[in-house]
Amino acid sequence: MTTQLITDGLQAQKQLDSGEPWAVKVRNRPQPGRDFDYDVAIVGMGYVGLPTALAHHVSGAKVLGFDISGKRIGDIKAREVDLLPTDHQRLASALASDSWTLSQESTDLSRAAAVIVCVPTPVDGHHVPDLSILASASRMVVQQAVAGQLILMTSTTYAGCTREMIVEPLRKRSLVPGADISVAFSPERINPGVSDFSIEDVPRVVGGYTSRCREAAVKLLASYTGTVHRTSGMEVAEMTKLLENTFRAVNIAMANEFAQACQVLDLPVQEVIDSAATKPFGFMPFTPGPGVGGHCIPCDPHYLLWQLRAHNMSLPVIAAAMEGIEQRPAQTVARCAQVLSNTGKGLLGSRVLVVGLAYKPDVADLRESPALQIIDKLIAAGADVAFYDHHFPESVTVNGKQIIGCAKPAEFNADLVLLHTRHAAADLSWINKETTVLDATYRAEELTHRVLL
Ligand SMILES: NC(=O)c1ccc[n+]([C@@H]2O[C@H](COP(=O)([O-])OP(=O)(O)OC[C@H]3O[C@@H](n4cnc5c(N)ncnc54)[C@H](O)[C@@H]3O)[C@@H](O)[C@H]2O)c1
Repeated sequence: MTTQLITDGLQAQKQLDSGEPWAVKVRNRPQPGRDFDYDVAIVGMGYVGLPTALAHHVSGAKVLGFDISGKRIGDIKAREVDLLPTDHQRLASALASDSWTLSQESTDLSRAAAVIVCVPTPVDGHHVPDLSILASASRMVVQQAVAGQLILMTSTTYAGCTREMIVEPLRKRSLVPGADISVAFSPERINPGVSDFSIEDVPRVVGGYTSRCREAAVKLLASYTGTVHRTSGMEVAEMTKLLENTFRAVNIAMANEFAQACQVLDLPVQEVIDSAATKPFGFMPFTPGPGVGGHCIPCDPHYLLWQLRAHNMSLPVIAAAMEGIEQRPAQTVARCAQVLSNTGKGLLGSRVLVVGLAYKPDVADLRESPALQIIDKLIAAGADVAFYDHHFPESVTVNGKQIIGCAKPAEFNADLVLLHTRHAAADLSWINKETTVLDATYRAEELTHRVLL
């Protein structure tokens, strides 16, 4: 057998795939095959990372949950976290087991066989991707990387990011991706607050730097997921996630436009959507609303638009959809003013109660929630605003102003109730026929006197 120095994992993989005899001789490099203390480490124990860590733990893995936030680690230990009931049970078992460790110590990452990165990838105030968190987490993971590990990126990002942030820096550390260490990308598909599909039931898409990297990731994901779909490379998997969420953004923007069209034509938009949804092929229902929130739909399409700008390319349909979505909070406030004026009042001095602050039902997640923009604009217009949301019992701060939560919403004596988000447990029985209600959820059919956004 000939022995040659191979410093490129792709080259090594090609030779492996071709069946040629080969060997990798690596100087000054840790050797693979060491024993690890943890099967998997999760970097970023947030809305995605925590349920992912719990799924691995349930599958029998020794799990290291890593987060830079001491508060987050403390909240997880105290079980004061926003999770589905099944995940709360999983967390209780995990905390009582010796195969579950929480850490803020980055050197612990080198003791894990697999490292999964799931830190936030938001956009800034100008809708430009803010990659600072992912870049910093990637630097840390690369710094702690050891031979024999798998690094699996799962944060949503632009096509080519895993190569730039993980593969190339590893190579600079003389760890050869594809030979010494495996690198792959698999987008997350967790849907916080929604129990219709368990994490185990949702198929995963995965692409590797080499096919051997990919298979290492497939093995890890298949330890708890039933179906894993392989792509030809990491960039395909990265782009897949952008397509999934851009698809949602464009369709939500269209549902909003249909709602406006139906209002002008005096037609019930929800009935139109439900009727179209009886078609068993070629149609998927999307619901209009006051805007979008969270760290997916308002952010991910901007990663694509931003990346393509560097190629002097615009994507007008997607850009228009994002603009449409982003205008919804302002449109909602304008509609509030219109509805109040129909009762002889104006926003100035009116009492407006916003029902449901979170960006979607059954989560305590305020990130990018349209309610925050709406409240800010209502206050700027002179309204006296409070909210009702059992996930936020007392008060929240919006743009530096403290907004008071109502435990007894009827006592607020609202001139206008804005239904922003409808949690399953929300009690709306206090709303009577005299209450002026603007339904931005389009879903409170039982309130027959409501006005639609
Ligand atoms: N939330 C969703 O519905 C969802 C769904 C699918 C995919 N995603 C994607 O998953 C990724 C994570 O999103 P999320 O909603 O879980 O974020 P999150 O804000 O809920 O949690 C991220 C966690 O990462 C921690 N963190 C930040 N920097 C870190 C670092 N350097 N090292 C370790 N931990 C660090 C934070 O303290 C926080 O606890 C994003 O790319 C997002 O787009 C989110």
